Amino acid sequence: MRELPIIADGGLLVRDGRIEQVGTTSEIESIVDSGCEVVDAGGRVVMPGFVDAHTHPTFAGTRVDEFEQRACGATYQEIAARGGGIQSTVRATRAATIDELVRAGKRYAQWFLRGGTTTVEAKSGYGLSLEDELKILRVIKRLDEETPLRYVPTFLGAHDIPPEYQYGAQRGAYLSLLIDEMLPRVVEEKLAEYCDTFCEIGAFTTDEARRILSAARYQGLGLRVHADQLSLSGGAKLAAELGAVTADHLEHTDAEGIAALKIACVQPVLLPASVYALGSKRYPSAREMIDGGLAVVLATDFNPGSSPTPSMPMVLSLASTHLKMTPAESISAATINAAYSLGRGDQLGSLETGKIADFVIHDCDDYRELAYFFGIEHAWQVYSSGDLAFCRAT
Ligand code: NIG
Ligand code: FE
Repeated sequence: MRELPIIADGGLLVRDGRIEQVGTTSEIESIVDSGCEVVDAGGRVVMPGFVDAHTHPTFAGTRVDEFEQRACGATYQEIAARGGGIQSTVRATRAATIDELVRAGKRYAQWFLRGGTTTVEAKSGYGLSLEDELKILRVIKRLDEETPLRYVPTFLGAHDIPPEYQYGAQRGAYLSLLIDEMLPRVVEEKLAEYCDTFCEIGAFTTDEARRILSAARYQGLGLRVHADQLSLSGGAKLAAELGAVTADHLEHTDAEGIAALKIACVQPVLLPASVYALGSKRYPSAREMIDGGLAVVLATDFNPGSSPTPSMPMVLSLASTHLKMTPAESISAATINAAYSLGRGDQLGSLETGKIADFVIHDCDDYRELAYFFGIEHAWQVYSSGDLAFCRAT
């Protein structure tokens, strides 16, 4: 992860949305014909687009009121216990139409692109009923078709228990709805590639998560798990037991959990912006994971509650200051490792012959500036499948 293959004075030849050749400028110049459009990066850093492998980008409204309450001392869990948190976004999202959600989603797609992100994994999870979860997944499909951003959809019907199922035996009824009705419809309509579950006190227990995720795996979905975010709930061990593709968050995972992830080849997805935004001090043990040989991924966790940022450069900054990852490790985690975690390692995440031409010209002289100068977006031009998707106004 520390070794970035950098070509000084490099160039790329792109044809039909794919990378045809990578080399030095003189090597590329020697093979282009006169009809070729030339983009001069002016000595700036050119990199693969960021692959943000954990986001919740389809929701209505904001939670600025809760943000202010946290500034006055309330905790995320206290706000959730009094009916705020995920439930307040569920109320707003249920009330929104598809077109309203698409409009909001397109605004956020611009934010991702402007930060240099060209692919996002996108979770549902603010509907929590059959129709509302399908609505969100259909919005994600439209965003994928109607914006230059690439979306990989994940079904997160197990984000929380909806209000109408919260008492006593009704919990079991929601699990049945998830497993027997929602999952089969999502699979039948090909609306998701992955299934995720929020395994946490106050959300789903490890036994419940095991049932949901096993059913999803049986129906052909890959597994991702919100694990050990707010407490050591056993999520990482469960992800290992079930052969999940990723275990995400991991702020409370212990050495045993990390060892289990390693044995089962589960990729950790670390989300330092959510730790920062919640004002918590407990960051995941990235060094132990990387030094133990795990293919760590970094992502934003973009959502209206715990992590209202779409900025991968901000995540890179936090990774160096709080996770003690070098800028090179962070870039590997935010590109190639992330692409592999989404089953697209052969198509995305690096600038190699045959891959999709998703690349970004960052207005930097040295790639380390991406993590070092923080609070700004460095992207100067962003290309998706070889087409200009964002250009900074000069
Ligand atoms: O990844 N932990 C659960 N889900 C999100 C937060 C969702 C929300 O607060 O709306 C997360 O942090
Ligand atoms: Fe999340």
